[in-house]
Amino acid sequence: MFVKTIALWCFLVTVKGKVRRFPDTLSFGVATASYQIEGGWNASDKGEHIFDHLAHTTNKMVDNGDVACDSYNQHERDVEMLKELGVDFYRFSISWSRILPEGFSHNLSQDGIAYYNSLINDLIDANITPSITLYHWDLPQNLQDMGGWRNPLMVDYFADFAEVAFKTFGDRVKTWITFNEPWVVCVLAPIWFSVSPAKSLNGIDEYICGHNLIKAHAKAYRIYDRIYRSAQRGRVGWTLSSSWHEPITQSAADIKAAERTLQFNLGWFAHPVFSREGDYPQVMKDVIAQKSLQQGYPRSRLPEFTTEEIAQIRGTCDFFGLNHYTTNLVRMQTNASKEPSYFDDQFTEILQDPTWLSSASPWLKVVPWGFRNLLNWIRKNYNNPETMVFENGFSDSGNTYDIDRISYHNQYLNVLLDAVEDGCKVSAYAVWSLMDNLEWLEGYNDRFGLYYVDFNDPRRPRTPKASALYFKSILETRIIERDLKNSRLF
Ligand code: GAL
Repeated sequence: MFVKTIALWCFLVTVKGKVRRFPDTLSFGVATASYQIEGGWNASDKGEHIFDHLAHTTNKMVDNGDVACDSYNQHERDVEMLKELGVDFYRFSISWSRILPEGFSHNLSQDGIAYYNSLINDLIDANITPSITLYHWDLPQNLQDMGGWRNPLMVDYFADFAEVAFKTFGDRVKTWITFNEPWVVCVLAPIWFSVSPAKSLNGIDEYICGHNLIKAHAKAYRIYDRIYRSAQRGRVGWTLSSSWHEPITQSAADIKAAERTLQFNLGWFAHPVFSREGDYPQVMKDVIAQKSLQQGYPRSRLPEFTTEEIAQIRGTCDFFGLNHYTTNLVRMQTNASKEPSYFDDQFTEILQDPTWLSSASPWLKVVPWGFRNLLNWIRKNYNNPETMVFENGFSDSGNTYDIDRISYHNQYLNVLLDAVEDGCKVSAYAVWSLMDNLEWLEGYNDRFGLYYVDFNDPRRPRTPKASALYFKSILETRIIERDLKNSRLF
């Protein structure tokens, strides 16, 4: 393995093939999230969050994050790895219940704050920009018991939490991501974990969750604007997940179905913030209202924003954060179900091409051209916002000579450059993930890391994979080979 990786590294740095240069305006990083890496689930006075609760009281998760990568005790090693890689920024998340054990801001955990202070300070000393996600899904259990994201008071509770973070860390932290992937919070989490907003989709709770979450984001943004921005000079946004959705045929119905899917996935959260007129995408408003009436509801199941709320929400992102992994094919669904649900409202069917190369995660197929299409869709729909790619990555089952991961990133970075040439303003790219970690329902089986973590060893040692050396060489040279396919590595 060692000889092979050295050979790979030598090959990459002396590459004679056709190379492309990254613009100086693009910064590189890696991403992680609190529950997936920290462990220390009950360290000091940390409160319980929904994943602690699920892991300890149900059999929904195959593994738990009680120890995970043990970053709570080993963040010095994490910073060492970041230095080895040479990244510009590190995106990590704060565990809400670690700094506010009960979820509310009346009681702060000094130990929790000390942990993040120490990590942030080490990053600054290493000249690595900390980029903090406030909410990467680990909701304090207390708040879940009060209805989770269905509860309109969550808007205030989240804003209080955000304000504690701005006040405590904002002198050093200049990039804030309020929410990681609202779509997953409101649609996938209920399916995967039976947690907030409801136990299953019913075409009501998903939209209430989205409504509250959008308002919570906007409230936190406005607080930053009003109280902290002039002194701290940071930036606030969120990061939205989206696959590219390609029509399965060029029929008008399938083209419309693919566009509708994009609007229901990405537009749901992007349109209120990034479009000129604000509010939900017109197609969501129309379709859900029409279906609701047909189903006998007195009004649309999609809640309405007031004119004032529309104005408060519009413009509340200083950048367009994007998490992107893969592509789907979409066809119009003809036999709609009778039960109202978020999916029924879209009346589309989602498929993938069986010939696409798969990762270890069945949903994640290697389809780089979809990334270019998605970046251009964002450019065209939202007036070419500055786009920061906060997650992009590939899973396998634990290979340290991870040539498939290298190939994935090589292809996705090449199309990112194509998109930049198309005119997209992409200013950041983060690999998911710095190291193997708890991949939610898949436990420690699907591995996304640039570093291999041995989860059988209580010390959780981390070892660089070939992809770590590949990424390091990109950061050093700021160039990339156009095509690794014909290289003797493959
Ligand atoms: C994202 C999520 C990450 C990670 C990744 C790989 O949706 O934000 O936490 O799990 O997917 O599946």
